[in-house]
Amino acid sequence: MDASVELTVDQADFFKTLTEKSDGGKLRGDYSKADAHYVIKQDCSLYTPEQHALWRRLYERQARLLPGRACDVFIESLRKLEASDGIPSFAKTNEALYKATKWQLVAVPGLIPDLTFFEHLAARRFPVTVWLREPEEFDYIVEPDVFHDFFGHVPLLFNPIFAEHLQEYGKGGLKALKLDALKYLARLYWYTVEFGLIKTDQGLRVYGAGILSSGGEIDYCLKSPNPRRVMLDVERCMRTLYKIDSYQETYFVIDSFQKLFDDTAPDFTPIYDRIKLLDALPADSLLPGETNLAPNP
Ligand code: PHE
Ligand code: FE
Repeated sequence: MDASVELTVDQADFFKTLTEKSDGGKLRGDYSKADAHYVIKQDCSLYTPEQHALWRRLYERQARLLPGRACDVFIESLRKLEASDGIPSFAKTNEALYKATKWQLVAVPGLIPDLTFFEHLAARRFPVTVWLREPEEFDYIVEPDVFHDFFGHVPLLFNPIFAEHLQEYGKGGLKALKLDALKYLARLYWYTVEFGLIKTDQGLRVYGAGILSSGGEIDYCLKSPNPRRVMLDVERCMRTLYKIDSYQETYFVIDSFQKLFDDTAPDFTPIYDRIKLLDALPADSLLPGETNLAPNP
C-alpha cells in the first residue's frame, strides 16, 4: 500500500494484523500493491497450470454435490458462470454480472478491514481474493481463497433480491460500526450469507457460501441428526455464538430471499440496544418454543 494514503483507525489496526495475527502467523496474500480500498489487479497470467488443475478438481468435486443440496438459483447461476475450466477471470464475469444486477467483482489480496468490506458491498462491489489454496488444503482452509469467494458467493449475486440484500447489508455494516454493534451483525452474516439454509417444496437446501464451498458440511448440514435447524429470527440469531473451526451446531433456515430481505429491512438500532444487555447464546442452544426442524431424508 502507498504510504502517503491516509489510513482510518480501522485500517491502521488491520495493518497491525497484517504483520502479526493473534496466532503469530501472517495473513496470506500480497498487500503491497493494494490501493486505499485494498483493490488490486487480478493478473490471470500468474496462475500456473497446476493451480488451474486444482481449481478444476475443487469445482468438479463440489459441482457433483450440488443437486438436491444447493438451492436452485445457485445451481442455475453457477452454470451460467462457465467457471469449470480453471480459475475464472473476474473481468469476464463482470460483464454478465453487471448486466444482471449491476454488481461488480473487485480483486483483493485476501481478508480486508471490516470498514472497507462494507464500503465495497454498499457500492455493489464484491471483494474476491485472488489466490488459490494449496493442494494440501483441498478439504479445509482457514482463510477464504478464490474458490470460496468466487464459487461460494458469486452465483447468488446474480439473483436480484439477494443482490439487493447484500448491498443493504453493506450499508448496515457501516451503521453497525458506528453503533459498536458489529459482532451482532457479523453473527447474522455468518448464519445467513455464509451458513444459511432455505426451505423449499423439495426440502431444505443450502444458500450459504461457507457450506456451498465445503466438501463435507454440504451434506452434514442437511442430513445429520446432530445440529439444530431453526427458522431464522433476526434478534435470536444475532445473540448466537458460532464455531469457526468445526461444522455449525445450529443452522438458521429462511423461507425465501424475499423474507430474508423483509426481516432485515427494519432499523436494527433498537435490537442492538436490547441485546447489548443480554447474554450471548451458546452455539448449540434451542430456546423454549423453538422447533428443531427435521433433517432431509
Ligand atoms: N436494517 C439493518 C439496519 O438497520 C441493515 C441491514 C440490512 C443489515 C440488511 C443486514 C441486512 O441496520
Ligand atoms: Fe465468505
